[in-house]
Amino acid sequence: MAELIERLIAAGPAPDDAVAALVAELGLDKVAETLVGEILFRCPPSENTVPVAIALDVTHGAQRCRTVLRLARDEPIRETGSPDVQMVLEFTAADLVRRLFGPTGHRRAGDFRNAFLPSGVSQLDLMRPTSLATNTLLAGCGSHAVDLGSLAARYGSDKWASLHWYVPHYERHFARFRDQAVRVLEIGIGGEDHEPGGASLKMWKRYFHRGLVFGVDLFDKSVLDQPRLTTLVADQRVAGELTAIGERYGPFDVIIDDGSHVAEDIRTSFHALLPFLRDDGIYVIEDLQTSYLPEFGGATGEPHTAVGLVQQLVDGLHFREHGETVAPQPVQESITGLHVYHNLVFLEKGTNGEEGFPAWLRELLGDR
Ligand SMILES: C[S@@+](CC[C@H](N)C(=O)[O-])C[C@H]1O[C@@H](n2cnc3c(N)ncnc32)[C@H](O)[C@@H]1O
Repeated sequence: MAELIERLIAAGPAPDDAVAALVAELGLDKVAETLVGEILFRCPPSENTVPVAIALDVTHGAQRCRTVLRLARDEPIRETGSPDVQMVLEFTAADLVRRLFGPTGHRRAGDFRNAFLPSGVSQLDLMRPTSLATNTLLAGCGSHAVDLGSLAARYGSDKWASLHWYVPHYERHFARFRDQAVRVLEIGIGGEDHEPGGASLKMWKRYFHRGLVFGVDLFDKSVLDQPRLTTLVADQRVAGELTAIGERYGPFDVIIDDGSHVAEDIRTSFHALLPFLRDDGIYVIEDLQTSYLPEFGGATGEPHTAVGLVQQLVDGLHFREHGETVAPQPVQESITGLHVYHNLVFLEKGTNGEEGFPAWLRELLGDR
């Protein structure tokens, strides 16, 4: 049986009756808890300096689950027991499932109820902060397209605007996955000393609003585990450890190698994980610059580096044109496209089945 979160994700684009039946089956309490957790993860930072309490009601028929949230600038949004609220927002569980896990930006007009400053006009000075806080919460109650660069900055990933400039390339190649229930695996979770890392995993979780994100690292990062984000311990130098992950959690739509960046490790991981990438999926290798750095096993012009691997894959794409009779390797038959950028490569998987230039035509042309 799939986990509750996976069933809610699958229900996102489903008809109303099917979503309502699922909520009834799973129970409103559990569904509401998961939906509120998802909303809190998606909310941008609060802007209101004066604290505001908002009651978020999730209903199903006559049942109601209320969560009262305190929002204030520079504070994480948190539950509060306050009976005095400045805003009530009410959604049916089915409408929230659609908002959170339906297609990007999809929501019906008129799919919520609200009460603004329900205790009366004496709270006039709270109008502006309440409006700001409500805007924050509503920003988490949907699946509108988010800007990946802003997410990188919000969660502290160096994939953008500091050491690396990968975001436009990721947005270009990942756009087609945004509304899909993708499985994303990233090698390398990051973090130092007392900080567990997970910046890019959180970024991917927010970007792929229907996605399940898996992170692999040498170190235990399970403190980061939450719905739709799972950390795993493995060494990317050991093919068997990656194979076990592929068997248990794959197949994946996207695999990203942002681990050790050592030439040999990159190659080992690529060959171990490629069988667990779906057809039409994308394998990304970051930080190709290490192919030229001796401390990462790199050397300019050497075939054993990640850049050497990319060059061999370009040759592999054209294996039929090599004029050799040896059987192709599986990798040559399954990489169908390569997009190389500064320090970054996207490898597309599929069936590399296009016939080569026919021998009879070459002969014909050669005779001329
Ligand atoms: C650059 S950080 C990852 C940053 C993260 N992807 C981000 O963008 O926020 C590299 C991570 O790779 C991990 N790592 C290094 N060698 C590894 C190996 N052999 N197997 C698995 N993980 C490894 C490190 O522990 C570190 O957490």
